[in-house]
Amino acid sequence: MHAGAQNLKPLHVLNGPNLNLLGTREPEIYGRETLKDIEALCRETAQGLGFDLAFEQTNHEGVLVDLIQRAGTDSSAFVLNAGAYTHTSIALHDAIKGVDAPCVEVHLSQPAAREAFREISFVARAAAGSISGFGAYSYVLGVQAAARLAKARAQQD
Ligand code: DQA
Repeated sequence: MHAGAQNLKPLHVLNGPNLNLLGTREPEIYGRETLKDIEALCRETAQGLGFDLAFEQTNHEGVLVDLIQRAGTDSSAFVLNAGAYTHTSIALHDAIKGVDAPCVEVHLSQPAAREAFREISFVARAAAGSISGFGAYSYVLGVQAAARLAKARAQQD
């Protein structure tokens, strides 16, 4: 157990639309790891840093809003891959802004280097920071960043 994390709430990792298809979905862009593989990576990373982890996926925007609100009360920080809602959803932006727990935006691909419609991220405008382009490893970095934010906040209290 690592000092400082024992009394902290879990980290949450939230996944949006089509991420349930990882493994077979455009593997040349998103890699061959399944969402289950990514969940295992996140759990291992969180555990190594002394945190419990909740891992969720939904294809529905409103459910993602609910999950962000839940992360706001039940997590000490959360990682969010909002999928395509990243580029469209003011509701997600407002949900992230509306909760106290910090958000780390993650993407497997590098949206800024892809189609023009992926250039805007409504999530980035509300998140503490963003990690993209490293495939499944983006999630490892995301969980590490969330743990760091959670511990820094706990020290301020
Ligand atoms: C994604 C990037 C988004 O632009 C896309 O709509 C996704 C996946 C990523 O992880 O690279 O669904 O969030």
